[in-house]
Formats: sequence, C-alpha cells, structure tokens
Amino acid sequence: MGVDLIGSENKMVAIVETKNNSKSEIEKSIIKIKKNHKNVKSILKKNSGPKGEFRIKKLELIDGEENTEVIHKENNYLIKIDPRKVYFSSREGTIREKISSEMKAGEKILIMFAGVGPYLVSISKIQPKIKEVIGIENNPIAVKYMEENIRINKIAHLVTPIEGDVNEICKNYSEEFDRIIMPMVYAKNYLDIATKIIKNGGLIYIYMISEENDFKDIDYFVSKFFENSNRKYKILEKNIICLFSPNKYKILVKMEVSK
Ligand SMILES: C[S@@+](CC[C@H](N)C(=O)[O-])C[C@H]1O[C@@H](n2cnc3c(N)ncnc32)[C@H](O)[C@@H]1O
Repeated sequence: MGVDLIGSENKMVAIVETKNNSKSEIEKSIIKIKKNHKNVKSILKKNSGPKGEFRIKKLELIDGEENTEVIHKENNYLIKIDPRKVYFSSREGTIREKISSEMKAGEKILIMFAGVGPYLVSISKIQPKIKEVIGIENNPIAVKYMEENIRINKIAHLVTPIEGDVNEICKNYSEEFDRIIMPMVYAKNYLDIATKIIKNGGLIYIYMISEENDFKDIDYFVSKFFENSNRKYKILEKNIICLFSPNKYKILVKMEVSK
C-alpha cells in the first residue's frame, strides 16, 4: 500500500494505491491517514496510472470532501491542482529542482507537455534571470491551472503559457531555444520536433522509459534516432526519476544536440 499526500498545511488530499484492492487493507489505511494527518480532507484510491491524451489518473473518492482541489507546496513555490482533473506527480519535485537549478541567466527555455506548469514555476523561482520560459499544454483545464499557478507565484513577467498541441505550436519556432524540457514518457515521439528548434549546442531534457538496469535500451533508441537526423548528439546524463512499473524505470535523459 502506497500513499501520496498532496497539498499544504490547510488542506491535503491523500492518494492511496493498493496492490490487491483488499477492502480491509483500504479501510485500515483510511483510519491511519485520518489519525496521522488531520489536514487530509479527502482520500482518493488510485484505480489507474496516467491514461489517455491528457495523462489523467483514475482516482476514486473513498472518503471525505468531494472538492479535491489543493494548493501543493513544493520546494519554495505553490502548485494549485485538482488531481482528478489534471496530471500531477508530487514524486517529481526533486527532479524538477535538479533540472531547474541548471538553467542559466539569459536563456530561452521551452517546456513541452507543461501540464499545470510545475516546471515553469520551479525554473522561474530558482533562476529568475532567465530570458523567457514558454510552456505548451493541450489540456484546457491544465492550462487554466497553469495560468493560476503563474499568478499565485508572481512569475508572469518570465513565462508564456500556450494552449495547444506541441505538433502545431512548434511549427512557429526556429532554432531558438537554449534548452527544451520534455517531461512526458511518450516524449520520444516528439524528439524530431525538438531537434529542429533547439539552438546549435543546446540541451534537451527528455523523460524516457527503460526496461534495463543499465539503460542500454535508451542508448539504442537515441543512436537509431540520430542515424536518420542531420544533427549530432551527446548523452550527458541519465538519472532515475522513479519506478514507472515493477520492471520499468522512468529516466531523465539529458543530451546536447549540435549540427
Ligand atoms: C505526464 S503529463 C506532465 C505534465 C507536467 N509536465 C508535469 O510534470 O507535471 C503530460 C502532459 O502533456 C500533455 N500533452 C500530451 N500530449 C500533448 C501534445 N501533443 N501537446 C501538448 N500537450 C500534450 C497532457 O495533457 C499532460 O498534461
């Protein structure tokens, strides 16, 4: 049984995940959560991982209030979300902090698949001297939350939220980004777009899935991809973000792309 808590002191939502869906196990965990976390107002049971185009988890209300919108405190900023309507993972706060701390003054950054905007917020808070960070997201509800998160974190002067499909919006760009962040496990299908709009020598940070302990499957995919591209690449880092499923890792791959 795993429990994720999202929110802050005033209001939290607990998301419980069970292996065998045992009723008594779920009842025990409800009692334990309510005893240990008095600020938990709703308890949700995770019935599926992220699904469909908008990558939303199936979360069933099993105890407490119907309204599951919370303001989550992560690092030194706030993220407003309703986990039943948009994708959000509190487990990715550490990787967001690591990536954000690498951004440099004057850089132009693109976040594909921006969701409710956690990368826009963390980058702007950690490196407020960036030139601009643009976030593209196709779920209109997530875009509304992204706009709200820009407002509550007071970063409107640094960020541009765009509602739309990465395939369409990126047609408007040329080789102009110092860094592109691609935080979605199917992002490899969009690597061709990223390599066309990254500056020569720019950096791409992409989430990928590996089924191998040495991540050789990722090396293989990337080398095959660049065989058919007019760009060169160098993988600089591979970091485990979290377990994706019992035998698969979610990995952050950082690569330099040049001509
Ligand atoms: C796994 S979520 C990640 C959200 C956010 N980056 C985060 O870390 O919380 C992927 C997001 O990409 C959006 N998305 C999926 N395909 C897209 C596309 N082709 N264009 C724009 N957004 C897309 C989904 O709606 C979803 O919100």
